Amino acid sequence: MMRVSFVLNGKSVCCEAEGDELLLDTIRSRFQLTGTKRGCGTGDCGACTVLVDDVAVRSCTMLTGMIEGKNVMTIEGLGTTEHLHPVQQAFVDVNAVQCGFCIPGMVLAAYALLKENENPTEEEIRIAISGNLCRCTGYQKIVEAIQLAAKRMQEQDV
Ligand code: FES
Ligand code: FES
Repeated sequence: MMRVSFVLNGKSVCCEAEGDELLLDTIRSRFQLTGTKRGCGTGDCGACTVLVDDVAVRSCTMLTGMIEGKNVMTIEGLGTTEHLHPVQQAFVDVNAVQCGFCIPGMVLAAYALLKENENPTEEEIRIAISGNLCRCTGYQKIVEAIQLAAKRMQEQDV
C-alpha cells in the first residue's frame, strides 16, 4: 500500500492505495464518487473520463500513484443537482441524454474542450469527444449541446 495525496474536486484528500490500483477504482471505491463509470475498462470508451490538471484522461488506464500532488475533477465537482454547470444544463436542454452512462465522461470531455477553446467548430467538438463512445444518441444531440454550452458560457463569461 502507498499513501497518495491530491486535490479531489477542490478539496485536499489523501488515501491508501495498492501499487497497481487504478484511479477509477480509487474514485469509486475509496471516495464513493460513482458518477465516474466503468465501461470497457480498457481505455476505449471514455466512460471513466476525469480531468487531471484540467486534461481529460481515462481513469481506467491511470494508476492512483500517478496522481500524487495533482488536481482531479470528477463529474461531481462540476455542478450540483440544484446548480448544474452550463455544460450539464445544455445536455438537459437539448435532450442529449438517453441512458446516461456515457454522459459524465462526455460532459467532462466537453468541459475540458471549452476551457481551452471557447468557440469550437463542429469538427473540433467531434474530435474532442471522439474518444467517448455513446451507444444511444447518435452524437448529433451531444454536439448540439456542446455548441449551446459554448454559446451560453461566452454570454455568461463562465
Ligand atoms: S472504462 Fe475507461 S475507457 Fe472505458
Ligand atoms: S446516452 Fe446511453 S451511452 Fe450515451
